Amino acid sequence: MSETVPLLGYGEKSTSLSRSAKIVLGAVGGVFAAAVLYVLVVLLPDYYIPQPVALNAIEHIGQFDCKSYSRYILIGDVHGHFREFKKLLKKAEYNPKKDYVLLLGDFITKGPDSLPLLDYLAKSDVDCIIGNHEFNVLQYYATFHNLEQPVFNFSASDASLQPPCNSKGGFNQDPEYLLAKKLQPQHVKYINKCSVLKLLGDVPFKRAGTTAPGVGVHAGLVWDVPLSAQDPLDNIEMRALLPPFYNETTSDPSTPGSKRWYKVYNEQNGKPPAEYVVYYGHDASKGLNLRTFTKGLDSGCDKGGQLSAMVITKNKKKGNGVEFTEEIVDVEC
Ligand SMILES: *[C@@H]1O[C@H](CO)[C@@H](O)[C@H](O)[C@H]1NC(C)=O
Ligand SMILES: *[C@@H]1O[C@H](CO)[C@@H](O)[C@H](O)[C@H]1NC(C)=O
Repeated sequence: MSETVPLLGYGEKSTSLSRSAKIVLGAVGGVFAAAVLYVLVVLLPDYYIPQPVALNAIEHIGQFDCKSYSRYILIGDVHGHFREFKKLLKKAEYNPKKDYVLLLGDFITKGPDSLPLLDYLAKSDVDCIIGNHEFNVLQYYATFHNLEQPVFNFSASDASLQPPCNSKGGFNQDPEYLLAKKLQPQHVKYINKCSVLKLLGDVPFKRAGTTAPGVGVHAGLVWDVPLSAQDPLDNIEMRALLPPFYNETTSDPSTPGSKRWYKVYNEQNGKPPAEYVVYYGHDASKGLNLRTFTKGLDSGCDKGGQLSAMVITKNKKKGNGVEFTEEIVDVEC
């Protein structure tokens, strides 16, 4: 017994010490637990399942105030190659105050950095055209978050819209689906702002040494249909036209008897409705493809080619005139 007294005293002392220690520990533990809870309940779900935002109807024909820019920089398919994209802007001496930058669709998926690119784009003044990959990602986004599928703000095209056929949730490993799941609200809002077509105002028209109306589109235009009646799905997916009338599109240019759309378009020689100079991407297999009425700018960055921009500069001439110059600026991928 006698031996236990000092031990008890000792014990009491240490108990009172450990009591305050317990309070401190408890407080630290509480803060830690709250932090862990915050990460688990707020941050991680938001990272893995971002807050959904409803989709707006995709604009069919977009416009912008072309008078307020002295240069256009029209860029082919970036496909998530953010590093090359930054290099290209630098090489073209991009100045947001003077330059209008338009991405001609397929700027995300395939390459390594779709999300960092979208982070950048969402804060930038860079404008965009919707490509087939962006459209698929928006469809998957709607599927994943159980939202209404995207529609076009264009009544003629509502009929044929179907989500991608492999869009079932769960174990879908499609890279577009995996990206769609990660999109934060600012990413979706950016993609959702891209229109199908973009009117560019006057652009250089070499043959006559004058100008012609320009339009940006991801894949192409059907030569015998006015802009406002073009089917958006043709515009974002077509590569060739089918016989016998060459007024129906296919995305597969190896279809027997088909002709690339730009050949038929250029054969019209500017006859309306094919009077536009068309800037497009989507056809990496043909590379840089500059013709009188069609300017193909997908030079296959994602396949180790180049990332290319058509840079159009408007130089004021004496009097009221404007003189245009155009040049290709590109970087290796
Ligand atoms: C379609 O576009 C017009 C003109 O920009 C706009 O007023 C209208 O609200 C849009 N409709 C939808 C469904 O977004
Ligand atoms: C293509 O042209 C033919 C002959 O003019 C016409 O009968 C047909 O409806 C057209 N198809 C489309 C999709 O415009």
